[in-house]
Amino acid sequence: MKKDIHNRADIIVLVDAFYKNVTLNPQIGPIFTDVAQVDWAHHLPKMYDFWESILFGKAIYKGNPMLTHFALNEQTPLQYEQFEIWKNLFFQNVDDLFTGPNATLIKQKAQSIADLMHFKINSPSSKIKIV
Ligand code: HEM
Repeated sequence: MKKDIHNRADIIVLVDAFYKNVTLNPQIGPIFTDVAQVDWAHHLPKMYDFWESILFGKAIYKGNPMLTHFALNEQTPLQYEQFEIWKNLFFQNVDDLFTGPNATLIKQKAQSIADLMHFKINSPSSKIKIV
């Protein structure tokens, strides 16, 4: 039986599974593997910190995801299609592994951050890098 997301160990399970699926995805996988050439040993712990901060209110993530994705969008378009794929993969991964209030909450947080990111990348103000 599936359980809820309770701690960092659960977040690690989710994040590792998510990025494994992301890299296998023909549409957005190459953005990570070819365009950004992600250093996974660096990126994954950052993502554990990010989601632990978001879900459990621990201020351990230091960074600015908006700026990272503005820069990425200069290299390759991050548009509606790419965000839809990202969100669907994320939701699917959560649902495959977890169930409960925190599983619902992390999907809501992912949805609102993704939608805000998409909006900011595509709004005229992104040209002057308002974050
Ligand atoms: C089209 C959708 C997305 C794509 C293709 C994408 C891709 C990437 C890539 C390539 C990196 C850089 C990794 C590196 O160079 O080390 C990154 C970083 C990151 N992404 Fe995304 N991303 C997407 C959406 C999102 C969303 C919706 C979130 C949050 C809910 C998110 C959160 C982050 C965070 C926190 C980082 C680390 C930023 C930092 O501190 O350097 N991403 N993403």
